[in-house]
Amino acid sequence: MNKNHDFANASFKNYENPPGMNLYEKARLFGDYIDNWQGRGHWNYRQVCLNGALPEIELHLPGNPHKSFVATVFNDYLGLSQHPAVKAAAIAGIEKYGVGATASPAIGGQMDFHEEIEARIAGFFKRKSAMLFTTGYTANSATMQALFKKEDLALVDAGVHASMIEGIRYTTNVKTFLHNNMEHLERMLLGSQGKYRSIVVIVDGVYSQPADLAPLKDIVSLCKKYGAFLAMDDAHGIGVIGETGRGVIELHEAWKDVDIITGTFSKTFGHLGGYVVAEPEIIEYLKFQAAQHIFSVAPSPASLCVLKSIDLIDEEPWRKVKLWENIDHLKKGLADLKLNTENSASAIVPVIIGSPGLNAEVCKWLLEAGVYANQIGYPAVSLKQARIRMSITAAHSIEHMDLILDAWEWVTTKLKIRNFE
Ligand SMILES: Cc1ncc(COP(=O)(O)O)c(C=O)c1O
Repeated sequence: MNKNHDFANASFKNYENPPGMNLYEKARLFGDYIDNWQGRGHWNYRQVCLNGALPEIELHLPGNPHKSFVATVFNDYLGLSQHPAVKAAAIAGIEKYGVGATASPAIGGQMDFHEEIEARIAGFFKRKSAMLFTTGYTANSATMQALFKKEDLALVDAGVHASMIEGIRYTTNVKTFLHNNMEHLERMLLGSQGKYRSIVVIVDGVYSQPADLAPLKDIVSLCKKYGAFLAMDDAHGIGVIGETGRGVIELHEAWKDVDIITGTFSKTFGHLGGYVVAEPEIIEYLKFQAAQHIFSVAPSPASLCVLKSIDLIDEEPWRKVKLWENIDHLKKGLADLKLNTENSASAIVPVIIGSPGLNAEVCKWLLEAGVYANQIGYPAVSLKQARIRMSITAAHSIEHMDLILDAWEWVTTKLKIRNFE
């Protein structure tokens, strides 16, 4: 074991590019870091699940007394990944078309079911045009890379997902405004007038770490006032926010106000794949200019299940009702335990712990209590914002919420944690 490093207080970032080390030296040092965390029982990255994205799961965890764990790690907000009709649609897709498209959409891989999904997801947002990518990550990074270049400026909320940042990092001027801070955004818009070919403001609908919502109405007004375009990724808002689950756009009735809507089929829709919804001329441009659309395979025929998920969001509205019953019950219980869930207003419920070491310890003891949650640390959030993150779904029961609350009570009493007294 390497004795020269303070592994317990380091993060992944420290091992991204250690100076003077070749490929193998750098990989071995990182291996030592992981071994150190594992040795303290503080590692649950790539924890192996044995039975799928369910509310109760089996984990490969030698030595742990539990047979099954309440899972709070899946973003299957409406529980559709296990829906019999969604599974049947995926199987029917495979039966009809085989297991893969085996060519990029540009050169043979585009099939009639892709066109149907594109039309349906565009219609879902009351718009005319959409295109698919194989992941939500790619939808964001590819779209931004293709649309914005060195002459342009991206004004980015500090909380947006890594995939948006990747999309603009190499092609576009980038400035970051404080999370959800409209004064800061306005100052930046004002100071940038006349200096760039175009300005795009990039936000998430629901932010994956703070779990709060973008103040979309205010953002739209500022974009209109200063002539900026608006791109929004509402990966975590769909199915959860808005009267019919159309997300933050629906909440603010901003159907026509977001130039580029991006999202994923990997959360509420229960499957995988990304989409971009925009005006027809932008979608046509992207079909020929987004490298990942041209040089990467089209989504698999199993993605036919997405059409069923779209139906079910409307046909089974009780799922969203159940989801919010669970969220409200859990948040009330956490507040009673004097734990800080920040401004969470979505199906993601974070509990702020505040230091990476303690955060890892909480995560370890939650597992001992039969609850599987994720520890989130730097660089996803600042060191002082280290947190446990739980994703709640409609497939959970109130009994699951009570079990989670019992686990939190036990762990925080044991570790003497109370955010508020
Ligand atoms: C806000 C946000 N956007 C995009 C993505 C990427 O989606 P996908 O899993 O489809 O690549 C995620 C995934 O965690 C996300 O949280």
